[in-house]
Amino acid sequence: MKVLVAGSANLDFVVRAAHVPAPGETVLGRELQLFPGGKGANQAVAAARAGDAHVSMLLALGDDAFVAQLEAPLRDAGVDAHIVRVAGTASGSAFICIADDGENSITVAPGANLHLAPEHLPALQGFSHVLMQLEVPIASVQAYAQAARAANVKVVLNAAPAQALPRALLDCVDVLIVNEGELAALAGSTTQADVSGQCAAIGIPCIVVTLGACGAWLWRRDQALIEQPAFAVDVVDTTGAGDVFCGTLTALLAQGAAFEQAMRYATAASALACTKLGAQSGTPTRVELERFLADRRD
Ligand code: RIB
Ligand code: NA
Repeated sequence: MKVLVAGSANLDFVVRAAHVPAPGETVLGRELQLFPGGKGANQAVAAARAGDAHVSMLLALGDDAFVAQLEAPLRDAGVDAHIVRVAGTASGSAFICIADDGENSITVAPGANLHLAPEHLPALQGFSHVLMQLEVPIASVQAYAQAARAANVKVVLNAAPAQALPRALLDCVDVLIVNEGELAALAGSTTQADVSGQCAAIGIPCIVVTLGACGAWLWRRDQALIEQPAFAVDVVDTTGAGDVFCGTLTALLAQGAAFEQAMRYATAASALACTKLGAQSGTPTRVELERFLADRRD
């Protein structure tokens, strides 16, 4: 089955430092390192590496010197890229500080990503799932979701970075993936304190909540919660771990895996991704994923 990822590509400018600077503070970090990133590209690479699903990505790039560095990892992963080229604009970039304790702070300059427009959507024929995030204009995300719904293609939305979502968009979402902060923002003024209550308040049939070192939950209306514990690894960099989760989960679902198996694979993939510096570095192939999980089966 085919997966279309529609979203952002950024070049990540990464500096490691003793701690993330507080407002007004300057910290001396170590050397600057550049990595391909962007939530969309990270998710597309993860989906492609996770297995047999054919993965396409719709993205917008500028006409700066970074374009080749952003295209190469997609090509290497076997992603079929539909690239909108925006003249006179920089490609997306992200400025990331990673602290020695693994904490990070990220500032994104969206650049060309903001030029991804509703009319850029390719024909959806043959796709089973569309996977999106919120680093491109929300009007485009909504238009793609509505087109997917009309074409009977499942919509998986990773609502990151957190922002208010129009009801018309939420109504087209089949699977919503959020972290705890994003869940609370979406559940809004609800009085529900527990995760299930917050999920029910959002009004989507299936919500996955990623909990970092505590694993992930999958909530479905009127069904038992799936609780997937995290896998312990030596963490070097958590940047993009959520993206690897989203890409892997969607690839597994597109292959017809049950939710339980998709959750297990996605959680394992995001753990492995944390063992290497760089958002896409460490993203496992299907073989690496199977081997990692086989070692942990008791
Ligand atoms: O989710 C991680 C990503 O967020 C980074 O790769 C960075 O580019 C930002 O988009
Ligand atoms: Na990584």
